[in-house]
Amino acid sequence: MATVTQGSLFDAVDDPTPADTQTLETLRAAAADCRACDLWERATQTVFGEGAAEAELLFVGEQPGDQEDLAGRPFVGPAGRLFDEALAEAQIDRSRAYVTNMVKHFKWEPRGKRRIHQKPNLAEVAACRPWLEAELAVVRPRVLVCLGATAAQGLLGPGFRVTRERGRPVDSHLAPVVIATVHPSSILRAADEEARRVEYDAFVADLRTVAAQLA
Ligand code: URA
Repeated sequence: MATVTQGSLFDAVDDPTPADTQTLETLRAAAADCRACDLWERATQTVFGEGAAEAELLFVGEQPGDQEDLAGRPFVGPAGRLFDEALAEAQIDRSRAYVTNMVKHFKWEPRGKRRIHQKPNLAEVAACRPWLEAELAVVRPRVLVCLGATAAQGLLGPGFRVTRERGRPVDSHLAPVVIATVHPSSILRAADEEARRVEYDAFVADLRTVAAQLA
């Protein structure tokens, strides 16, 4: 069984193979058995990242939602549909990107028959981090995009403020270009249709900046 501990990438899997000889497939298989925190107990499955190992562009969200947990794929629920729509408007081809999450199990609490999303805590983010580091080591994207505060603060530091720094490249050793923007779910939560439109347009503008970095 694969175990993950906080710390280096090489703690991520039982097999201490260096990162550059891991593949996304071996990582995905190892992550399927991850028990590094308790979230696996209530989740249907590990939702590993998806996309090509050669992708130049890598997106990091927070954690799978209800539909992602069931499907075993990132960003396929309501937030994923909005993300797809915005990507299309910004002329970014999702099939050429790698899409993943900071945390790979769905954290939820029951409310009636529904499973309600709960934000992962710092320990859960830290426990899952070796998987993301391993994905980054394999994909080595030119452009890394953090979607929302969990990804941005997890990767760029707890003081990072998406509202202040969104939509422009920030200094980071993680990739040649690193940009943070809002999480698509935050747009779905906008107070009314007008606010939603404004936030959606700002999100597309940030994605156009991302697209320009790839041109
Ligand atoms: N929200 C995320 O952050 N990731 C997903 O995969 C789905 C919703």
